[in-house]
Formats: sequence, C-alpha cells, structure tokens
Amino acid sequence: MVYLIDILIILAGLAVIKIALISIIFYGDIRAAQRRDPAAKSFLEVVLLYQGLHALVVFRLAHIFYSMHLFFLARFLSQGARFFTGIEIHPGARIGRRFFVDHGMGVVVGETSIIGDDVLLYQGVTLGGTGIVTGKRHPTIGNNVVIGAGAKVLGNISVGDNSYIGSNAVVIKDVPPNSTVVGVPGRITRQDGKKIDVSLDHAHVLDPINQAIEELQSRLDKLEHKST
Ligand SMILES: CC(C)(COP(=O)(O)OP(=O)(O)OC[C@H]1O[C@@H](n2cnc3c(N)ncnc32)[C@H](O)[C@@H]1OP(=O)(O)O)[C@@H](O)C(=O)NCCC(=O)NCCS
Repeated sequence: MVYLIDILIILAGLAVIKIALISIIFYGDIRAAQRRDPAAKSFLEVVLLYQGLHALVVFRLAHIFYSMHLFFLARFLSQGARFFTGIEIHPGARIGRRFFVDHGMGVVVGETSIIGDDVLLYQGVTLGGTGIVTGKRHPTIGNNVVIGAGAKVLGNISVGDNSYIGSNAVVIKDVPPNSTVVGVPGRITRQDGKKIDVSLDHAHVLDPINQAIEELQSRLDKLEHKST
C-alpha cells in the first residue's frame, strides 16, 4: 500500500513537471490560443484541455524525429496524436510560431505543407495535395492567415500573408496577400481592405455555370423590378 502511494506521488510529480515544461516551452502558442479564442478562460484551461495545443506539442517532437530520419517513430507519434485529438499533422510539415488549431477535429496538414507564424486553423481544414504527385505538393501558408472551418487548400499553392480563407472554401490557386477567399472554387472577395466586384473578376467569369447562374439572376432581378 505504501509503495502504491509512493508511485502515485511520483506520477503526480511527473505530471506537474510535464505541465510546467509545456507551459514554458509553448508559452507563445498558449497565449496565442487565449488571444484567438474568446472562449478560453484561463492559461491552465488551454494547457490541459485544448487538443490543438496537444497536437502541436506532439508535432514538435515528431518533427524532430522526422528531421533525424526516424520516420516510423515520427509517424507513430503523429498517428497517436491523431487518435487522441482528431488532428493529423504530418511530422514532415513545417509550422511557424504561435500556431493555433481551434476545435481541431478533422484537421489534416500534409507532409510538405509550410505554415508561417500566427496562423489559425479551425476544425475540418485540409492542407492537402491534389493527386498522387511527389515532391512539394501541399500548400505554403503565409503569416497571420486564418483558415475557416471545413476549408480545403489543395496543391502546391501559396496563401499570402494576412489572408482569410472562408469556411468551406476550396482553394486551388495562389492567394495574394491581404485577401479574403470564399466559395467553391475559392474566389477573392476582398483584397487590401477593398471589396472585389466578382463580376469583374476575369479569372472566374470564365466559369460557364457561374456565368449562366449570374445571367439568370440578373434577368430575374430585372423581371422582379418591372413587376413592382
Ligand atoms: C470569409 C470570412 C472571413 C468573412 O470575411 P469578410 O471579409 O468579413 O466577408 P463579408 O462578411 O464581408 O462577406 C463577403 C461576401 O462573402 C460571402 N461569404 C462570407 N463568408 C462566406 C463563406 N464562408 N462561404 C461563402 N460565402 C461567404 C458573404 O455572404 C459576402 O457576400 P456578398 O458580398 O455577396 O454579400 C468569414 O465569413 C469566414 O468564413 N470566416 C471563417 C470563420 C470560421 O470558420 N469560424 C469557425 C468558428 S467555429
């Protein structure tokens, strides 16, 4: 019985040391989570209960093993993190400082993804490839980017600094800095603080389905206008 109590005390001590180490090493990431999630009530809540932070802690360790070419061990850790958090970050990805995954479940970050500083991902985000290609096949995300819930950013494209990807958007082309992108396929609705008129966005007016819908909408608007 005395031995059991001793073992419990040692385990509790180790847990406290682990929490203290995570709090010190990941201080910036924890503070970022607090800043970006209004629901986060305390530092300790983020440390103990935020699976986005837990996935990041395991990723940092797995990435070290990946860099040492210990691929199986690296993958073993990342799959373990996926099991417990629902967030799958490939250990080969490169992630900057103050990274935060909010809610987290269903997030996938591919092997050759590069993520800048101060990036926020919501649940269901995929940074993925577009097919079976080798080499750099996942996106490069700039600094201070927010990617909304369920958005897919696919292929070796780049998303510029300070951009927002709307929830459920599917982005398959480069996004310039300071842009907001929504829809499927993703189209820019705001750039450098100015709203973009989609009807003048020549990259997308060539989409025949969109054109047909826009024509029908404008005829409907005219008819409705006449009848009133
Ligand atoms: C895109 C987003 C960043 C808003 O950016 P914004 O610049 O404030 O955009 P606005 O609200 O001015 O909307 C611009 C246009 O895009 C449309 N829009 C906004 N978000 C959209 C989305 N996710 N999908 C499709 N269209 C969207 C708006 O209806 C508006 O259309 P309109 O010009 O025809 O009226 C935001 O809507 C978003 O999706 N954020 C992600 C947040 C998230 O995932 N939260 C999860 C919390 S759990």
